[in-house]
Amino acid sequence: QNRPFGIIETYRDRLPTDGIDQIVTLGEGSTPLVPAPRLGDALDATVWIKVEGANPTGSFKDRGMTMAMTKALADGSKVVVCASTGNTSASASAYASRAGMTSVVLLPQGKIAAGKLAQAVVHGGRIIQVRGNFDDCLRIARELAENFPVSLVNSVNPYRIEGQKTAAFEVVDVLGDAPDIHALPVGNAGNITAYWKGYREYAADGPASYTPRMFGFQAAGAAPLVLGHDVDAPETVATAIRIGRPASGKLALAARDESEGLIDSVTDEQLLDAQAFLAAQEGIFVEPASAAPVAGLLKLKSEGRLDPRQRIVITVTGNGLKDIDTALCRTTLSIETVEASTDQVAAVLDFDS
Ligand code: F0G
Repeated sequence: QNRPFGIIETYRDRLPTDGIDQIVTLGEGSTPLVPAPRLGDALDATVWIKVEGANPTGSFKDRGMTMAMTKALADGSKVVVCASTGNTSASASAYASRAGMTSVVLLPQGKIAAGKLAQAVVHGGRIIQVRGNFDDCLRIARELAENFPVSLVNSVNPYRIEGQKTAAFEVVDVLGDAPDIHALPVGNAGNITAYWKGYREYAADGPASYTPRMFGFQAAGAAPLVLGHDVDAPETVATAIRIGRPASGKLALAARDESEGLIDSVTDEQLLDAQAFLAAQEGIFVEPASAAPVAGLLKLKSEGRLDPRQRIVITVTGNGLKDIDTALCRTTLSIETVEASTDQVAAVLDFDS
């Protein structure tokens, strides 16, 4: 190829790549930054959507995974482990296959969207269901990595954050400067930390002339950073962000404060309405968690808390196809059945013959 392939080749100088010769990549990154005029009208803003569901395994996790897996391979690891609400495990198992390594994925029992589970299955991940939630899984994954020869590839691994910060670089590279506001969902809080790092680096080194305000949104039933304390039994339809003890919580709060941003929450209802809005009005199908920042901005707007005419980038973190059950159970299917005849189809459509 005569274009750089994947985020490590593209941003090599800005990533910790010393001593690395073999890159583990599936060509992640360079995701579309899609103008969203209808959402812009609703928010009285200029809006772009960073479609991270266009990454190889359908979520932003791939940016971090290429770095974490490349490092694990360079270190001679044979086995990687992660806790996951589904996307990290999908990405880890795909990149581990690519690297010839084994992935062990710890999943909260019964709380993983089917598409994500299918990914871990087809990529040959060693899948372990834990009777507990994500926070329990992460505690166990950390203890395994401390006591056994396995590499932890959750976002507490600094290489994950390094890879994920490249999404902020891409936004600035496309827009020519930072936006006024960058909004995204917050679960374990690695991604908001990564974006903030990326924006700060670009502002310090020249490509951007300022940093955006970071707006993070959690689900109301799993909103420890909004409440100011851990949540023991997080609950939300957005299983990706069903997290009560975010590992990078302090860093997320620092991103909020340093950027003069905010972290707020949205109800499941608001988040599902926003998912439907994006699909119907902008042609972008995202998983429920990814709709949180859209719902959050609409909420701020309706409460008079959003300044007019801002340039806003929203990261939608995961592809809608990962969790079709949630999407379909809210809409009444309107499928009409006819015989295999053009006349019948035309009649159903009220077309005059
Ligand atoms: N959106 C999606 C689709 C996610 O899968 C996640 C996290 C987030 C947002 C939140 O990002 O944790 O960096 O604040 N998913 C993790 C996982 C926890 O295991 O796949 P965060």
